[in-house]
Amino acid sequence: MNHPVAEAAKDDSTYAAEEEARGLAPHRVGEVVMEVRNITLRFGGVTAIRDISFDIREGEIRAIIGPNGAGKSSMLNVINGFYHPQEGEIWFRGARRRGMRPHQIARQGIARTFQNIALFKGMTTLDNIMTGRLTKMKRGLVWQALWAGPAEAEEIRHREAVEKIIDFLEIQHIRKTPVGRLPYGLQKRVELGRALAAEPKLLLLDEPMAGMNVEEKEDMCRFILDVNDEFGTTIVLIEHDMGVVMDIADRVVVLDYGAKIADGTPDEVRTNQNVIDAYLGVPHE
Ligand SMILES: Nc1ncnc2c1ncn2[C@@H]1O[C@H](COP(=O)(O)OP(=O)(O)OP(=O)(O)O)[C@@H](O)[C@H]1O
Ligand SMILES: [Mg+2]
Repeated sequence: MNHPVAEAAKDDSTYAAEEEARGLAPHRVGEVVMEVRNITLRFGGVTAIRDISFDIREGEIRAIIGPNGAGKSSMLNVINGFYHPQEGEIWFRGARRRGMRPHQIARQGIARTFQNIALFKGMTTLDNIMTGRLTKMKRGLVWQALWAGPAEAEEIRHREAVEKIIDFLEIQHIRKTPVGRLPYGLQKRVELGRALAAEPKLLLLDEPMAGMNVEEKEDMCRFILDVNDEFGTTIVLIEHDMGVVMDIADRVVVLDYGAKIADGTPDEVRTNQNVIDAYLGVPHE
């Protein structure tokens, strides 16, 4: 199979033209907001990530793909500070990150969803999404208990923000339903709502469409594109469905056995021989 020689870095107009060609409304892909530089992450003897570098640009949908165990979720866990890599650097908005805790990173405007749904099953949709506001709450729970007035005013503001998200995600009808009773596809949507409640600038989605039927996937794609478009949110998306990736990603980084094997536009990675081999399970050296 022939594959094109990797093209030089593309400018914004090229992205816009490609998006138009794919029937998407062109949106601006801006400057680099995050740089992942030479990250290596080990768990004992297992090297989950090996010397990986890539960047994320403002306003783009950046997909991370690769076979099972490639290191995709681990990479998200490095980006949001759950894991501390043994080697390498993360740069966010021009500053090198040093020894930050996940909640500090969340306050910088980075939110995520998880591969396995992480919601409070006994709590309603509304209350689960409300937990996403925690990083934005100024007054702690004790303070709220002592001084009901200002805390109440703050709570009303947060409730309004949550209601907007509920409208946006078209889940008004389940706002009072405990999420444990919801079908899987809707639980994933609530989880997206919880992440959106933090008003992230950078949203990390770990397989938001896994286990969904075609219709649910289409809905989720639409919401992801709308978040990207309407709020200008930069999105990092781990996804196994190549059709989805081809449809909505601006650029794709491909991992295999913890290493980066390709990085480029959807068309470039799809025709890259290393990528084809990785997905066919061709043994690597
Ligand atoms: N907390 C951990 N402790 C030990 N090993 C881990 C841990 N997390 C991940 N690994 C290992 O690191 C490697 C990469 O795992 P990771 O979950 O990042 O892959 P993935 O690309 O997300 O795979 P999948 O598509 O199956 O979700 C695997 O070999 C996995 O077993
Ligand atoms: Mg994973």
